[in-house]
Amino acid sequence: MNKANSNHFLSRRKNNVTQALQTYMKDKVELINQQLEQFIYAMQIPERLQDSILYSLRAGGKRIRPILMLAASEAYGGQDNRAISVACAVEMIHTYSLIHDDLPAMDDDDTRRGQPTNHRQYDEATAILAGDGLLTTAFYSITNNERLTDSEKAYLVKELAKASGPEGMVAGQMLDMEGENRTLTLEELEAIHRRKTGELLRFSAVAGAFIGGANAQQLEEIETYANYLGLLFQIQDDILDVIGDEQHIGKPVGSDQTNQKSTYPQLLGLQGALEQKEHYALKAKQSLQKAGVDSSYLEDIIDYISNRYK
Ligand code: IPE
Ligand code: IPE
Ligand code: MG
Ligand code: MG
Ligand code: MG
Repeated sequence: MNKANSNHFLSRRKNNVTQALQTYMKDKVELINQQLEQFIYAMQIPERLQDSILYSLRAGGKRIRPILMLAASEAYGGQDNRAISVACAVEMIHTYSLIHDDLPAMDDDDTRRGQPTNHRQYDEATAILAGDGLLTTAFYSITNNERLTDSEKAYLVKELAKASGPEGMVAGQMLDMEGENRTLTLEELEAIHRRKTGELLRFSAVAGAFIGGANAQQLEEIETYANYLGLLFQIQDDILDVIGDEQHIGKPVGSDQTNQKSTYPQLLGLQGALEQKEHYALKAKQSLQKAGVDSSYLEDIIDYISNRYK
């Protein structure tokens, strides 16, 4: 094949693959939304609290963590009906973390996913309790799936607790707050992002691969892939906070500057942040190749996260 032809072939293939990922994501979002609703509806929750929980769950998140989990599971031959309760669990934890992240005591933001933040729509106390409710229900969701064995459930509960707790995502949120009003080194910034954003993405990919039946070696390789994905995700989040379109991202642009956060664009400049992003995207692709799975979805997710505009 000559060069012109091969370029044409590559770009056509890329478009097809992107289209395939779009269709895949749309499908999975439907499944995830339906399961989340069903689970929360089946519980006896005081009405205002249930409304507030459903309000944030329905606000139109991208669902990238549960999608990553289902794709990683599938890459090793897993079935959605085994992974779905864990995929819902990670989305519940993520949604709780956003409700609390937006509170006046934290980032004090008024919009999220294009709508008033939970405490703006309801009130602070209800928002705190909606977060508490989602956090605890996540673990209930994992244990409530008869297609997982007891030892699988124990492993998944333990790993999700570690990833989301005070050594994981909660640690990241604490370090992020402590980093306000001072300039961090790139190493410090990365250490925050690995926890704040990286841990839930890492859990999603590793849990999916585990449920799908990956062996220990494969789990390690998927973990490296997911760690780069986490850094990539946060760089793009920081970039969108500078150059994003509020209409698309559904949350205020410039929140990081208002809160004097260290971010990639602030440390490296916008151009430097864009270059760092390319570097991590390449690293993620190389790690995925080593993981030896033939999954175009896991590869497409790298490009999706890197180029997302919302
Ligand atoms: C935003 O996460 C918060 C970060 C961890 C950077 P997402 O960009 O995945 O938010 P939603 O779920 O799509 O709203
Ligand atoms: C939030 O990070 C991360 C978690 C909630 C764990 P950010 O504060 O950067 O997220 P956005 O920009 O408000 O979505
Ligand atoms: Mg924050
Ligand atoms: Mg925030
Ligand atoms: Mg942000």
